[in-house]
Amino acid sequence: MAYSSEVYAAARRIIDERRSAADREANIRKSDVYAKFPAVRELDNQLMREMAGFSVLMLREQKETGAAISEMQDKISRIQSEKAAILASNGLPADYLEPRYTCNKCSDLGRKNGILCSCYKEVCREQALRELAASSGSAACSFDNFDLSYYVDNGASDGTNPRRKMQNYNNFCINYAKGFSNDSPSIVMMGKTGLGKTHLSLSIAKTVTEGGFGVVYAPAQKLVSDLEREHFSFSGSDSAARKYAGCELLIIDDLGAEFPSQFTTAAIGNLINERLYENRPTIISTNLSGKELAERYSERTASRILGEYRKLYFVGEDIRFLKNR
Ligand SMILES: Nc1ncnc2c1ncn2[C@@H]1O[C@H](COP(=O)(O)OP(=O)(O)O)[C@@H](O)[C@H]1O
Ligand SMILES: [Mg+2]
Ligand SMILES: [Zn+2]
Repeated sequence: MAYSSEVYAAARRIIDERRSAADREANIRKSDVYAKFPAVRELDNQLMREMAGFSVLMLREQKETGAAISEMQDKISRIQSEKAAILASNGLPADYLEPRYTCNKCSDLGRKNGILCSCYKEVCREQALRELAASSGSAACSFDNFDLSYYVDNGASDGTNPRRKMQNYNNFCINYAKGFSNDSPSIVMMGKTGLGKTHLSLSIAKTVTEGGFGVVYAPAQKLVSDLEREHFSFSGSDSAARKYAGCELLIIDDLGAEFPSQFTTAAIGNLINERLYENRPTIISTNLSGKELAERYSERTASRILGEYRKLYFVGEDIRFLKNR
């Protein structure tokens, strides 16, 4: 389970910024209070001196310092009460000068006792979802708003019931997403345009991302143009290639919509093969039929997809059209 390194780095920056902001604001409150009530500054200075002495004492042998320690503890709490009293008489809480961290568990350090704090994991998740929304441009698709009433609830000409079929697919996708693991199968969603392929694949992407997995979504067109740019740039960089080949779940949307060329068909074939070989799940959605896939890519690539992916044949009428009716 792992997001991209960009996600972790961005989360790190967000947590660091939370801590600095809390410290900054505490310092502003402090300067303000010191200016108005110089006695508080004097008490803080005393506290600092006592604390320093306290640390020194703590390092020494217990028996010779026991009495001194408790005396010092009394002194510290006296100063603290005196300070709290001044603050209280001015309507301020005792912790008014302390930084107000977002996370009480780790004080916005992102880790506690050497392990990652839940706040850091939460920020990673939010950041991964943000990146997914940015790359797909569609935060609007989720399992919750996948509406089965767009599919007719009676026998189609081939004897199947579109709504029942799509309900099964929807359930399959929900279970797939919730139970996603690195051993999950690959999926190909086939069917005409406007039947909900992109909608369901993005719903899967969101749920799997929430589960802590590194998901990359890309329309086929963007994927090949990224690979092409990198390949012909001679920059030596292979970050796009590594991202698409190495992520835990890759979603290639609208395969076949990309501009066909020798390079693009080979690149897609290689990517599909490599991910199958490395046992990394891929979800492909396409308007192409099996026959068209074989014509467009190689026979070998098409038979990999049709033979080794779980196949979902979407049915119904163009939902874009139904929505605008
Ligand atoms: N079952 C559904 N319930 C609600 N909206 C849907 C459903 N299926 C598709 N849509 C919406 O209809 C539009 C077209 O669907 P899309 O998933 O892009 O189709 P496809 O990828 O099969 O061409 C999108 O705006 C999508 O969110
Ligand atoms: Mg689509
Ligand atoms: Zn925390």
